[in-house]
Amino acid sequence: MRIAVAGGGPGGLYFAALARQLMPTADITVWERNAPDDTFGFGVVFSDETLGGIENADPSIYGQMEREFARWDDIDVHYRGQVITSGGHGFAAMGRRRLLEILQQRCADLGVTVHFRTPAPDLSDLATRFDLVVASDGVNSAIRSMRTASFRPDFEVRQCKYMWLGTDLVFDAFKFYVVATPYGVMQVHGYPYDATGSTFIIEMNDAVWRAAGFGDLAAAATHLAPGQSDEASIKLVADLLGDVLGDHALLANNSRWLSFATLRCDSWTDENVVLLGDAAHTAHFSIGSGTKLAMEDALALAACLYEHGASWPEVDGGREAAIKNALTAYEAERRPVVASTQRAAQASLEWFENLGQYTDQEPEQFAFNIMTRSRRVTHGNLKLRDPEFTDRMDAWFADDCKQRGLGAGDAVPPMFQPFRLRSLELPNRVIVSAMDMYSATDGTPSEFHLVHLGGKALGGAGLVMTEMVCVSPEGRITPGCAGLYAPEHEAAWQRITSFVHSSASAKIGLQVGHSGRKGSTRLMWEGIDQPLDSGNWPVCGPSALAYEAGVNQVPRALTLAEMREIRDQFVASAEAAERAGFDLLELHCAHGYLLSSFISPVSNQRTDEYGGSLAGRLRYPLEVFAAIRAVWPAHKPMTVRISACDWVPEGITGADAVEIAAAFAAAGADAIDVSTGQVTPDEKPAFGRSYQTPFADAIRNQIGVATIAVGVISSYDDVNSLILAGRADLCALGRAHLYDPNWTLHAAADQGYSGPGVTWPVQWQAGSRPPQTGRTDGPRPRLELIRSGDTGTKHARWRP
Ligand SMILES: Cc1cc2nc3c(=O)[nH]c(=O)nc-3n(C[C@H](O)[C@H](O)[C@H](O)COP(=O)(O)OP(=O)(O)OC[C@H]3O[C@@H](n4cnc5c(N)ncnc54)[C@H](O)[C@@H]3O)c2cc1C
Ligand SMILES: Cc1cc2nc3c(=O)[nH]c(=O)nc-3n(C[C@H](O)[C@H](O)[C@H](O)COP(=O)(O)O)c2cc1C
Repeated sequence: MRIAVAGGGPGGLYFAALARQLMPTADITVWERNAPDDTFGFGVVFSDETLGGIENADPSIYGQMEREFARWDDIDVHYRGQVITSGGHGFAAMGRRRLLEILQQRCADLGVTVHFRTPAPDLSDLATRFDLVVASDGVNSAIRSMRTASFRPDFEVRQCKYMWLGTDLVFDAFKFYVVATPYGVMQVHGYPYDATGSTFIIEMNDAVWRAAGFGDLAAAATHLAPGQSDEASIKLVADLLGDVLGDHALLANNSRWLSFATLRCDSWTDENVVLLGDAAHTAHFSIGSGTKLAMEDALALAACLYEHGASWPEVDGGREAAIKNALTAYEAERRPVVASTQRAAQASLEWFENLGQYTDQEPEQFAFNIMTRSRRVTHGNLKLRDPEFTDRMDAWFADDCKQRGLGAGDAVPPMFQPFRLRSLELPNRVIVSAMDMYSATDGTPSEFHLVHLGGKALGGAGLVMTEMVCVSPEGRITPGCAGLYAPEHEAAWQRITSFVHSSASAKIGLQVGHSGRKGSTRLMWEGIDQPLDSGNWPVCGPSALAYEAGVNQVPRALTLAEMREIRDQFVASAEAAERAGFDLLELHCAHGYLLSSFISPVSNQRTDEYGGSLAGRLRYPLEVFAAIRAVWPAHKPMTVRISACDWVPEGITGADAVEIAAAFAAAGADAIDVSTGQVTPDEKPAFGRSYQTPFADAIRNQIGVATIAVGVISSYDDVNSLILAGRADLCALGRAHLYDPNWTLHAAADQGYSGPGVTWPVQWQAGSRPPQTGRTDGPRPRLELIRSGDTGTKHARWRP
């Protein structure tokens, strides 16, 4: 078995060392274009979680790494003159050069041939002479470029500029410095790598970078020879960050400004060529995982080759097939892990790109926000790692709420702090999201609605929203949709609001809308967005463009007179909602229904003043909003649900969403309920846990209006995290409430919370504790020996 490894970075060398041990007869050759001690950068950081795999794979390498490690537990956030520390994280770091020395030595000891200062031979030569070619030649992989059609790489170049530097200042923790400069905010990620120095990565938004003059300096540095650093920029960094560095120096090593690019490849394997590490994928350094990913790839590839018998002299089906199977297994094993890391890294890098939007946050909230920026680390994780930190954050939030006239200042899980919209007091931050039940008859809500909404109100959420309630028969999505355009509707809704007000602590809001071009379709379970078999009614929209061409009706482009008529229907429904006793009114401007279809350029191609620019497309929804705000009582709040992104290139973007939200806020909206999509069937949403939250976050922190986050928020841990970080003021949960109507009651019980933020219906008090389950463990010892973290001494502790 002959293996060629192109690139002797951490990935290539670690693979060579492991493969050699697993397959001692294999002939492994590594080509590295640089000299052994010739490497960019300073230190690499690992988390404790990462190191387990490396420890078990090759204890010799791990043992040497361990001797080098600078270890620490704390993350310090330096912001506005304060340092806030979060502990318990478990980091280990070492110099990149030293890591490479260890791997190089291990390869030499194991008999791997490494050619330094030698570029890898031509791919065509390698692929024919070797059974397997491992491309570990870094992010600019020449091998990947030779086979672009097979690997199909995609580079997403991001807007921040960064430079990897070092300093002789030895940090005592992982440091985030957030520094306000005359040009805007800059940040430093720093961590120690040995007793002599620390990694010091400076990063900033492109606009700040240009304003500070780095753009000109970088342009002047383009003539530098390979290996030289952009000294003029480094001097300016040192001047701007003098307060951080004190008397210490910045160290350069081939240091220049870079734009981070996230690399994703459709395939990592092509015949007998396989990509590994940065050649296959990148993840933003703010989650510190590039070297980890490369080493884990190496481990998985070596293991898959071994497990598929690739090096056995007489492997079933032949060596070629064994290698092919091993490569398939490698990709299947690594892709989900890499995708998950890239998702977290993406959230983190976007957070840093938008850092400027958080600089009004108080230090505590900012610190919690930065700690949870990738949305992988949560309130619950941090509580386990450092309960004092989360206690301090909860106490800060309680105090902040109290200062705003909310709550008594008791430190409780953040989701149980109250919230106020105009005169409406919500006992907690949980909303039952609007969900169409398709169970009305001629628009009249049924017994089902009473039980469904009444049940949700008993379940502890602060606010229960109705489904989209339609302003006219034609404005319904399906024949089963509820309305508020006839006296019998009003009476039926009143029965529901009366039940909620008399039996639960929840408030109840009505979502009012018109289906527009997505109307006249089947009940959800009979074919969502599909036209009716019979009895279709004509649909309307801003323009004569069908939702799905060839499937849905082509809508009638509304005349101005028709638009006024529909606006008046909204007003009539709003007046009826007040008479029916609703506490809050939400205008549905999302999901491609009528008002949303006016806002989106995908569905609105009008040439009059209601089309064209965003201001033109917003004109009609704003007119409707103003008309209903005028009749809805001034003391009662109104929210607006928007689709903050259409998930198609020509549609609404997150930046548009901020403008849309600002327009509604200026018109008197009290909160923006931030959903996305469903405007066009061509959408490609980036689904994932709490995936719509960044839109709510940007709106809240850029324009200061309250936001409701929604979309795959399912755990109380996520709700606590989003609220405390200031990404949203309220969280709406849809499907989680279909799964567990008592979601909020159970969240309280699970967190041991009882207080004004949640009220068990008095009838249900007997069930307010989690039911007992059978014991699977033996009796717990009453006395245990525990080790004190500070002194290392053991002492006894009595269990209560
Ligand atoms: C600013 C910054 C900070 C980072 N911080 C961290 C961190 O804290 N922790 C962390 O884990 N990761 C960090 N990373 C990422 C990390 O450096 C990489 O993800 C990691 O080095 C990937 O390892 P690799 O072996 O795949 O590629 P590389 O380390 O890039 O190695 C590729 C090797 O291939 C060689 N090569 C390229 N072309 C050829 C050729 N044609 N012939 C022969 N040799 C060739 C190169 O010289 C290089 O030695 C950081 C990256 C940057 C840019
Ligand atoms: C059955 C069902 C019906 C829905 N009907 C509505 C609706 O009438 N109005 C609305 O704005 N959103 C509606 N939605 C979207 C939800 O309010 C929510 O935004 C979405 O389900 C994502 O949240 P989740 O992941 O917590 O479920 C509906 C969702 C479901 C599952």
